[in-house]
Amino acid sequence: MSDEQPKRPDTKLVHGGRRKEWLRNMVNVPVSRTSTVLFDSVEDMHKAYPPRDGQPSYGRHGTWTQWSLAEALNDLEPGAAGTRLYPSGSAAVSVALLSVLRPGDELLMVDSAYAPTRSFCDRDLKQLGVQTTYYDPLSTPDQVGALITDKTRAVFLESPGSLTFEVQDVPGICAIAKGRGVSTLLDNTWATPFFFQAIGKGIDLSIVACTKYISGHSDAMMGSVTAAPSHWEKLTRTGRGLGQYVSPDDAYLVARGLRTLGVRLRQHELSAVKIAHWLKDQPQVGPILHPAFHESAGHDFWQRDFQGSTGLFSFALRGGTKEARDRLIDSLELFGIGYSWGGFESLAVPADTDQLRTASKRDFGGPLVRLHVGLEDPDDLIADLERALAAYPA
Ligand SMILES: Cc1ncc(COP(=O)(O)O)c(C=O)c1O
Repeated sequence: MSDEQPKRPDTKLVHGGRRKEWLRNMVNVPVSRTSTVLFDSVEDMHKAYPPRDGQPSYGRHGTWTQWSLAEALNDLEPGAAGTRLYPSGSAAVSVALLSVLRPGDELLMVDSAYAPTRSFCDRDLKQLGVQTTYYDPLSTPDQVGALITDKTRAVFLESPGSLTFEVQDVPGICAIAKGRGVSTLLDNTWATPFFFQAIGKGIDLSIVACTKYISGHSDAMMGSVTAAPSHWEKLTRTGRGLGQYVSPDDAYLVARGLRTLGVRLRQHELSAVKIAHWLKDQPQVGPILHPAFHESAGHDFWQRDFQGSTGLFSFALRGGTKEARDRLIDSLELFGIGYSWGGFESLAVPADTDQLRTASKRDFGGPLVRLHVGLEDPDDLIADLERALAAYPA
């Protein structure tokens, strides 16, 4: 997009990455599939290396279909140097971590990280000689700073955290890390850069599982990492070294989702807030773990730093067993049971953290349910929950 006139986020979603030379009079950037790129001469072929975005060189380095999506995502993050795409959100997490860590380094990882992110640290990074220390998501910047040693190279944040939705003091932690020469990485999948612009808040590498809201239709897997200028070269080098690539077909699908991200997120937000307020008044329900609620940990940071909330939150049941909670979920008719979230459809899953957390055990007074509130009528979803809760033996 041209820099001549500042654009607001909704306008960026519609116009981002739609360069005239890529569109060729179409509304959408075409899906260009290729492995080989043909050149007019050997000299031209040599000139295409090292690969640059916007200059076709070889299929793995992308065509306008992938560059356009990456540019549109990047437009949402003022101050960013660039965005790279990966075949899944987890691939994006791994490449981002590998781009800043070497054997002998230490990593500070938030205890509320997405479970496969933890597994990557505990198994793969450990094997590479990187030691991970977990920190409580409710740590103050000074408490995180106190864990930084001479060997610490990176602090990883996920805000809000998986399953329990603690919002972190991202700018505060980034300021401390920057002062000590430590890189900061954030899993920004929940808010997306539409509701939280991470690079402007001090993050060096902002990761989004585009599988969720960016794609929005539960039909594609993808991840992205947006880099601050200081981290763009290393991110690019690591991804290329590992042969990371997304297909133009998937890039097209995800770009199609991106165009409607704003309207979808606002509807997810409205419906989720309505349902969470209704849940709060139910006798079988305990704490609501939703960043827009005062009682939710880190709510003040959410209010200070975010432009909205989305459709994913958890609630605690008041007493009862995990088995009874599972039966409650089984009895829901409009909420599907399955991994992932961010699509048009509602989902409900158990949210057990007791086997996952090592630095922050919290008791919510009963088992947790995580809801993804989709684009159905929220009153129908409430009726479904009401029927299921009526049978809950709290
Ligand atoms: C917070 C978060 N980050 C990353 C991922 C990984 O994304 P993907 O499933 O595309 O690998 C997920 C998936 O559920 C997630 O919830």
